[in-house]
Amino acid sequence: MKKKIILAWVLLLYVNGGCSKSVTPNPSSFSDSFIVIGHRGASAYAPEHTIISYQLAYELGADFIEIDLQMTKDGVLVAMHDNTVDRTTNGNGSVESHSVEELKRLDAGSWFNKNFPLYADSEYEFLTVPTLEEIFAYFGKEVNYYIETKSPDKYPDMEEKLIQLIRKNDLIEKVIIQSFSEKSLIQIHAAEPRIPLIQLLSYQSPAKITESDIIKWKEYAAGIGPNYQMIDKAYVKAARRAGLLVHPYTVNSKKDLDRLMKWGVTGVFTDFADSLSEEWKK
Ligand code: G3P
Ligand code: CA
Repeated sequence: MKKKIILAWVLLLYVNGGCSKSVTPNPSSFSDSFIVIGHRGASAYAPEHTIISYQLAYELGADFIEIDLQMTKDGVLVAMHDNTVDRTTNGNGSVESHSVEELKRLDAGSWFNKNFPLYADSEYEFLTVPTLEEIFAYFGKEVNYYIETKSPDKYPDMEEKLIQLIRKNDLIEKVIIQSFSEKSLIQIHAAEPRIPLIQLLSYQSPAKITESDIIKWKEYAAGIGPNYQMIDKAYVKAARRAGLLVHPYTVNSKKDLDRLMKWGVTGVFTDFADSLSEEWKK
């Protein structure tokens, strides 16, 4: 495995006057080096949210592996994008209606071979849904983790469990947390202000950024993660002027990457960690 370690996200705490007025540091003062985030691992090439997919993203050059979090009936954090197991396993029903043992019996890889024959691989058959604990145990400090709290209203103790697990594995400096839920991020910032947070934004029409948005986000977040199709140069410039990181999702073409990089984004989520990693490093 390629030994690439991206360290020192937390280099610049309390510098450049970046602290908010609260007693906790404003994470907008974190490093703004451009990062490639392996969206659900290397999900163009391998079944999303499996250890193989994460490992491939890392080997292909992603700086972070992206993990969407759900929780089982018995309170175990697991990596899965959807609320249900239907699309990415051979089971059905909601994640929260399965115990971790039941979830572990499902085949989380064969669906990919059927849907994406170009990248099908017998190795993908009968892969299992990983728990977050297993992912941390497998990769340790070798990778950086970009973790999303999904459906936090369904799982009221998700944030607490997540922070506990990050602390237990001594991974504070290897993690970014993202969420569409402002409430979830504010809760995490209050409990563990050292973790950089990204406010995800699901604009349904071309986005405008306002001064009040910026003031609000800077209270708890290091940056924002908008849909790349909804932003323009003025949006990115305004966010960057305010010191916010900008990590658009999900960027899968060179043309889009080039445009976004010219505008000054500080990273992208991509299903193709290999091609984009090569592009931005040129
Ligand atoms: O987390 C960024 C991006 O992944 C958000 O969209 O639906 O793929 O989680 P989604
Ligand atoms: Ca996500």
